[in-house]
Amino acid sequence: LLMALRLLLHVAVLRLGTTRPLVQGLGFREPAVAWPSFFHLNSPLEVQETRQIPKNGSAPLLVDVQVFVSNVFNVDILRYTMSSMLLLRLSWLDTRLAWNGSVYPRRMVTLPWGSLWTPGLTLQEALWVDWQNQSPQARVDPDGHVELYLALTTETNCDFELLHFPRDQSDCTLSFYALSNTAMELEFQPHVVNEIVSVKREYVVRDLKTQVPPQQLVPCFQVTLRLQNTALKAILALLVPGEALLLADMCGGLLPLQATERTAYKVTLLLGYLVFHSSLVQALPSSSSCNPLLIYYFTVLLLLLFISTMETVLLAGLLARGHLRAKSSPSPAPRGERQDPGHPGPNPEEAPRGVKGSWSSWAEAADHTFFLVYVAGMVCSQFVFAGLWMWATCKSDPAPGEAAPHGGQPRL
Ligand SMILES: *[C@@H]1O[C@H](CO)[C@@H](O)[C@H](O)[C@H]1NC(C)=O
Ligand SMILES: *[C@@H]1O[C@H](CO)[C@@H](O)[C@H](O)[C@H]1NC(C)=O
Repeated sequence: LLMALRLLLHVAVLRLGTTRPLVQGLGFREPAVAWPSFFHLNSPLEVQETRQIPKNGSAPLLVDVQVFVSNVFNVDILRYTMSSMLLLRLSWLDTRLAWNGSVYPRRMVTLPWGSLWTPGLTLQEALWVDWQNQSPQARVDPDGHVELYLALTTETNCDFELLHFPRDQSDCTLSFYALSNTAMELEFQPHVVNEIVSVKREYVVRDLKTQVPPQQLVPCFQVTLRLQNTALKAILALLVPGEALLLADMCGGLLPLQATERTAYKVTLLLGYLVFHSSLVQALPSSSSCNPLLIYYFTVLLLLLFISTMETVLLAGLLARGHLRAKSSPSPAPRGERQDPGHPGPNPEEAPRGVKGSWSSWAEAADHTFFLVYVAGMVCSQFVFAGLWMWATCKSDPAPGEAAPHGGQPRL
């Protein structure tokens, strides 16, 4: 890097050296007055001077920043990252670069990177930053207004709101710091423009904001992007199968308790759901706090299916035991057959009516009650989750640095 910088400086100085004869060749008569003061620099100290930040008395130099957000792509909620393409237009006033416009009639001059002071920007949340032009050129007008364009592609870390996944909406912040200057020397005035034209994305940028965080030691500006997940895929792929399984399980409760298919049906459903559940939990993001509501929802669904399968197995087991006991101690007279005539039952042994009748009627009554309670519980859980979805908000735990007794950022 040092080598590259040196090379850059060298090239810049070389260019300074070569500019003078070039401009002279263009035929300006009074070069000593006409040239931009920039080209007067003959001692290395003066060259160094233009690379220092312009002074503005005791007030900080104001640098106007326009952030054009041209694309947001590859939002990865499982890795907490977001990739974006930005164009920054920085402009400020450096009177040392001004020249007499009536003598040197050029509207603009282009100066190479490294030959004048430019704010060096560091992006705090970035995993990587790709500055598309390694040596961008600055444009200067006769009054000394400098304009510099920087295009970058970056992948940044973002604190996604997980509770409402897959309908989440999160604020992702990009903090730009000029680490080589202090807040006394430099102040940013940021603005942001939404230039996103491609909209075929799961995540849509709903809002853009900029702010200058107060009381920073280092000049800083922040761009906040409000991202909203509009993916229908997750809803179709997650909610619909879950609801369908729950409904199928409820319908399984309508099968008669004596039917052996009922146990097989419920166990198959439970197995299928277990497979679905394990792949689903992998697909959902998770964190130390504010996990997606869907995780709880699907776990409650799993519990409901489990309870209903257990109930079927238990009652079927009790019923079979009743049959066995009735077989081993046959009762004398068959009393009133209280089994539901609509469901004759597949059991071929209809033998001892008395005991079997009371057992099966007891089991059926219990099954019926359970079915009603189960349906009520299911409907209730749906409403509870719908309410939570609508109104619940989750406040994340503070970041580890903020939670520490002397943590957080240094303040002025
Ligand atoms: C210098 O500071 C003053 C007061 O903050 C401001 O109005 C002016 O625009 C600044 N000049 C430059 C060149 O930044
Ligand atoms: C610019 O140059 C012209 C011609 O030499 C001179 O008359 C004028 O005063 C100069 N203007 C400034 C602002 O120095």
